Amino acid sequence: KKLVVLISGEGSNLQAVIDACRQGRIAARVAAVFSNRADAFGLRRAAQADLPAHALPPAGFADRASFDRALCQAIDRYRPDAVILAGYMRILSPEFVGHYAGRMLNIHPSLLPLYPGLHTHRQALANGDREHGTSVHFVTEQLDGGPVVLQAKVPVFAGDDEANLVARIKTQEHDIYPLVISWLLDGRLELRDGAAWLDGAPL
Ligand code: GRF
Repeated sequence: KKLVVLISGEGSNLQAVIDACRQGRIAARVAAVFSNRADAFGLRRAAQADLPAHALPPAGFADRASFDRALCQAIDRYRPDAVILAGYMRILSPEFVGHYAGRMLNIHPSLLPLYPGLHTHRQALANGDREHGTSVHFVTEQLDGGPVVLQAKVPVFAGDDEANLVARIKTQEHDIYPLVISWLLDGRLELRDGAAWLDGAPL
């Protein structure tokens, strides 16, 4: 089976997925990586792993719909079984989301439904939260609003700053994201009537 991974930045989750595929923890391979930013460090990780690495910046496209159509066509050349958003920092058009319904996952660094959108770590700190975390979810039309499959919690300690929290959370992400991806590819996880189902039962 094949995965296409979309990134915008560092690509540490991409690396975790590449490693999990190579180690047989995910029954698939990464067929290609796409970034909307040409300078994303994750593109170098992909090249280092001998994977096709494409930068597709939105500049020059008339609107979101036309950019997403181009991205969709480029992705589908690889005939992926699943599309994995790993720090992809763009809003997706409804058409794009619909095209990959049930086979597109995202990881969002908060305990959803808390803090959809940007600056989750800053908000958790500002609110004095004692715990924070990350969520893997199916992608639906609502931004960071699709059904959650798995979350990991981390403590927030006095004196933590954003950088500490990011690091603590990413460590968890690198475990839970490959696990959920493996469930999807093994046919254990599905999106049914707007809910996530694992092993035939709703989560
Ligand atoms: C992760 O924290 C993920 O939850 C969020 O963006 C970050 C991406 O980090 N969506 P990386 O590029 O995988 O290191």
